[in-house]
Amino acid sequence: MDINQLRSETKSCNTTIHFNNAGAALMPDVVLQTVQNYTTFEAEVGGYEAAYLRDNEIKAAYAAVARLINAKVENIAFTSSATDAYNRALSSIIFQSGDVILTTESDYISNHIAFMALQKRFGIFVHNVPNNAEGEIDIADFERVIKKINPKLVAVTHVPTNSGLVQPVIAIGELCKKYDILYLVDACQSVGQLEVDVEKIHCDFLSATSRKFLRGPRGIGFLYVSDKALALNLEPLFIDLAGAIWTSEKSYTLIKTAKRFEDWEFNYSLVLGMGVAAAYCVEVGIKNIENQNKILRDYLTSQLQTIKKVKDIDIAPHLSNIVMLQIENYDVLAIRNKLYDFKINTAYSHRTSALIDYTKKNVQEALRLSPHYYNTKQEIDFFIEKIATILH
Ligand SMILES: Cc1ncc(COP(=O)(O)O)c(C=O)c1O
Repeated sequence: MDINQLRSETKSCNTTIHFNNAGAALMPDVVLQTVQNYTTFEAEVGGYEAAYLRDNEIKAAYAAVARLINAKVENIAFTSSATDAYNRALSSIIFQSGDVILTTESDYISNHIAFMALQKRFGIFVHNVPNNAEGEIDIADFERVIKKINPKLVAVTHVPTNSGLVQPVIAIGELCKKYDILYLVDACQSVGQLEVDVEKIHCDFLSATSRKFLRGPRGIGFLYVSDKALALNLEPLFIDLAGAIWTSEKSYTLIKTAKRFEDWEFNYSLVLGMGVAAAYCVEVGIKNIENQNKILRDYLTSQLQTIKKVKDIDIAPHLSNIVMLQIENYDVLAIRNKLYDFKINTAYSHRTSALIDYTKKNVQEALRLSPHYYNTKQEIDFFIEKIATILH
């Protein structure tokens, strides 16, 4: 990997030390230009006309995202965010009172809130499987629970927002296949930093955003929908004219592809931006990204050991590039803000964003660092120097 070359392709690398890739990464210049140019084009020729004239590029965006996760184009729907993608998938499952959603204690906050909303409205049950002593889902335990409660849906977040944990989504997918259970994977934090291959994961739905480790623009995400889910005629609760054809006064027919899960209206500059970001990621190479990220993570955590007041709270056999730091007796939000003065971007996280996990770990608040392959060891050194000064 030629890091200098890659950094030269993102101008903002020269001015910002960005350790908030789990929030929203720095876009490569080519992504930014794509978004800006398309918006200019819309202003010149008209919004609908721009989409007509640039239809090939729009199609290429679907192809790029499909390729990124080893899917077919027909199985990809674009959405306005990862949560939007997730909730569309969730809303397509016809829950009856007493049905069970099997999930994990580390699943994303909004997913848990959506499950509770379903619980309130439809009388379903939510079963949270805890992580084992190593910090991840224990597959034998998960299978025992599946056999006992026969869930309607298994819903797992690949990489949680507030820990370095990487859940064994492939092994969980094998169980879902074995017991023929619908499987929804939240890959919001893994797409762009880890290999995400829907064939290997064997999921029915997979949701993600563009803006995080994928390095695309904000305001767009995508949903993968399996052939099985399409054949089951699953449809989002509020389907619009993009997903269905109004065939008679009292009926509509579903679109055959995953576009069934889309809205008609889109910001196409973001569609093209996400497509270019996906193609850029494939070109850099996900294995290269994984390797480089591991180097950065290991370096960061080793350097952090020199700062006694900071504790790395991640425990898991496989770790991603999300690094959570507990800094007891300090105002973590104030630390994040002080780091801004040095043009160092990190993120603040509160117990309520990972309620079960943080309660177990006895964490009230934490500082999140999420370096990505375009960051450097020099930037980490600079961060270490500054945090040491702030905590002196
Ligand atoms: C694991 C995970 N899932 C889902 C989301 C939600 O993504 P979005 O804000 O695009 O809806 C996030 C955002 O931080 C996340 O970290």
